[in-house]
Amino acid sequence: MNPVIVAIDGPSGTGKSSTSRAVAAELGLSYLDTGAQYRAITWWMLSNGVDVNDPGAVADAVDKPVIVSGTDPGKPAISVDGLDASGPIRSQEVTAAVSAVSAVPEVRARMVAYQRSTTAAAPGGIVVEGRDIGITVLPTATVKIFLTASAEARAARRSGELNGALSVAETQDALIRRDAADSGRKTSPLAKADDAIEVDTTTLTLEQVVERVVALVEEKRASR
Ligand code: DC
Repeated sequence: MNPVIVAIDGPSGTGKSSTSRAVAAELGLSYLDTGAQYRAITWWMLSNGVDVNDPGAVADAVDKPVIVSGTDPGKPAISVDGLDASGPIRSQEVTAAVSAVSAVPEVRARMVAYQRSTTAAAPGGIVVEGRDIGITVLPTATVKIFLTASAEARAARRSGELNGALSVAETQDALIRRDAADSGRKTSPLAKADDAIEVDTTTLTLEQVVERVVALVEEKRASR
């Protein structure tokens, strides 16, 4: 049987990572967090004095860091030049700079190639989460899911993850700015594929979202 490829896209704070990991674990699939890769390259640029607002400088440096993503949904891991980057890639500095870095076409080309080879190498199949997976990275994915939620619900979730470091209102402003940048960029913007199934998570618990996505994957598997 062909491996099952699940593409999960959507804006920040819709529960993409928690959902993707739980779905992968439940179905015995690998897992890839592509947002973590864009964060990792951004962290390297910031740590190495590259001006993240200069697309030419970012493009020139794009091949320098060695980024390695783990694919175990129970233990998501990411390293840059052999160093564990899972903590620093979640900093506010990285979060503020990642949209600019991820809009650079050379960054996307490198990451998309890596994401496709990781997917091809996953033995039983994989859940890949991001912004452009269903349209650009894996247009022939078995199942495509697009998660949405109201801006208020997304900001409340993110603010909780940041342990109140930012207020819900500040978090909502930052989310809206990042979504606008991610949706408005020229190269593979955040968008829903025509054949993606939209799941609005505003009033659902994580368990309900996971149950729904697992059911959609099982349904697709059975009909192949
Ligand atoms: O999912 P996240 O918040 O960790 O993603 C971080 C940033 O990376 C987000 O602002 C948009 C960008 N991103 C992207 O451009 N394409 C992807 N496939 C995944 C993330």
